[in-house]
Amino acid sequence: MAEVTMDKLVALCKARGIIFAGSEIYGGMGNTWDYGPVGVEIKNNIKRAWWKRFVHESENSFGVDAAILMNSRVWEASGHTTSFSDPKMDCKKCKTRHRADNLIENHSKGKVNPDLMTNEEMEKYIREHEVHCPVCGGFDWTPIRTFNLMFETSRGVTDESQNKIYLRPETAQGEFVNFLNVQRTTRAKVPFGIAQIGKAFRNEITPGNFIFRTIEFEQMEHQWFCKEGTDGEYYEQFKKKAMDFLVDLGFKQEHLRFHDHDKLAHYAKAACDIQYLYPMGWQELNGIHNRTDYDLSRHQEYSGKSLQYVDPVDGSRYIPYVIEYSIGADRLMLAVLSEAYEEETLPNGEMRGVLHFHPAIAAYKAAVLPLQKNLSEPAKELLKTLKKRFSVIYDEAGSIGKRYRRQDEIGTPYCITIDFDTLENGTVTVRDRDSMEQIRLHTSEVASFLDEKCAF
Ligand code: GAP
Repeated sequence: MAEVTMDKLVALCKARGIIFAGSEIYGGMGNTWDYGPVGVEIKNNIKRAWWKRFVHESENSFGVDAAILMNSRVWEASGHTTSFSDPKMDCKKCKTRHRADNLIENHSKGKVNPDLMTNEEMEKYIREHEVHCPVCGGFDWTPIRTFNLMFETSRGVTDESQNKIYLRPETAQGEFVNFLNVQRTTRAKVPFGIAQIGKAFRNEITPGNFIFRTIEFEQMEHQWFCKEGTDGEYYEQFKKKAMDFLVDLGFKQEHLRFHDHDKLAHYAKAACDIQYLYPMGWQELNGIHNRTDYDLSRHQEYSGKSLQYVDPVDGSRYIPYVIEYSIGADRLMLAVLSEAYEEETLPNGEMRGVLHFHPAIAAYKAAVLPLQKNLSEPAKELLKTLKKRFSVIYDEAGSIGKRYRRQDEIGTPYCITIDFDTLENGTVTVRDRDSMEQIRLHTSEVASFLDEKCAF
C-alpha cells in the first residue's frame, strides 16, 4: 500500500474540490484555506456527527452560538490578554519568524519537551545545540520575544472613540459567559453541558501543515459543569467519550493515543490530548481539560455578576467545576482524510485513490450514473427522489469506470447505475465503494438502503 503523504492529500483536495489555498489567485495567504464544494459537505457532516453525539444524544447538554466579537473584559478575565502568547525568535539572516518551542521540538525529534522550559532555558538550548534556521540554515537568532496570538481590531465611529476588540481565539468563553443564561432557560441541574461549534482566530506564524494549524479555524467545544469532587470522574468519562467518538468515526485505535500534559496551566487540575498519527507524525487532535472553577470564578470577579449555581435540593451555592473537551473541526477533517485515503492497486494493475471514510461523513451518499446518456431520463427521475432526502450527485460524463474512480476519490460510498434492466424491471446496480461489489435493488428500495448504511 502506497504511503499517504501530506503532498498527496493536498493534491487530492485541490483536484477534487475539497480544499483550495486561500486567496489563491492573489498568490495565497499563509495558513488560510478555502473549502470547496466537496470539502464543505464533508466538514459539515463532521460537525453534524459531533453535534449529534455530544448534544443531541447527550442527556443533559445544550448548544449555543455565541458572538465571535465579545466584550474585551472577557479576554482580560480569561487571561488571554496577558498570557496567550508564543515564544518567538527571528532569524536575522532571512528575517523569518519561528516559535522557539517548535525549533527545540524539531531539533530534538520530540525527545526534549520545551513546555517545561523557561524562555532563558530555551535560548540556552538553541545556543548550545546550534539549532539552525529551518528556512535558510543560518544561526543568528534574536532573543525570544513573546507575541500575543489574538487578532485585534477596533470598533467605533470616529478614530478617537475606537475601542480595541479581539477576534475570539477560542469558542469556550462564549459558553462560560452564557452559563447562567443556559441554566436558567433550560432549568438544567448540575451536572450539565454547553456545546458550541464556531470560528476561532489565532495569529499563528508557524507553518501550518495544510489545515492542521491555521489562523482561522473552527472549534467544537463542550464544557461540562459539575460539582467539585465529581470532576475527576467526569474527566475520565470525557476522555473515553472523546476516544469512542473517533473510533466510531472509523479511526484505527493504533493511530490514536492519549498524551498527558507535562506542564499544567495554573488553573488546570488535569489535562491531556488525544494525538493522531498524522502524515507528519503524532500531533494533538483534541484536548480534554479539568479547568476547575477558574473560568466562572474569573468571570464572576470581572463582571461583578454572581455565577453561583443554587442547588435546588439542598439550597447550597457554589461555582461549578468545568471539564472541557475541545476539538478543531479542521484538524479532525485532516485526520479523517489521512485515515481514509488509500491508493490501491487493483487486480488489473490499475491504481485507484479512494477515501474509505464512514458513509455519514461522505459529501455525497450516492452518485447516480446512467450507463449511457440515453438513460439520463430514468436516472434523473431517481436523482430527484433521492435528493429530497440525501446529498446525491449525478454524473454522465465519461466511461463508467472513470466515473467510479472519480467517486472513489471523493469517498462516495455508493454508485447507483441505471442500465437497460432498469427500463425492464425497475432495478438498478448499487456498487460499494470499498469492496467494489455490486448488488441489484429495486429503485423503491434505494432510499431505505442509503438510510440504513449512512446512519452515524
Ligand atoms: N478552549 C481550549 C482550547 O482552545 P486548545 O488546545 O488551544 O484549547 C483546542 O485548542 C483544539 O482546537 C486543538 O486541540 C485543535 O484541535 C484546535 N486548534 C487549536 N489551534 C488551532 C489552529 N491554529 N488551527 C487549527 N486548529 C486548532
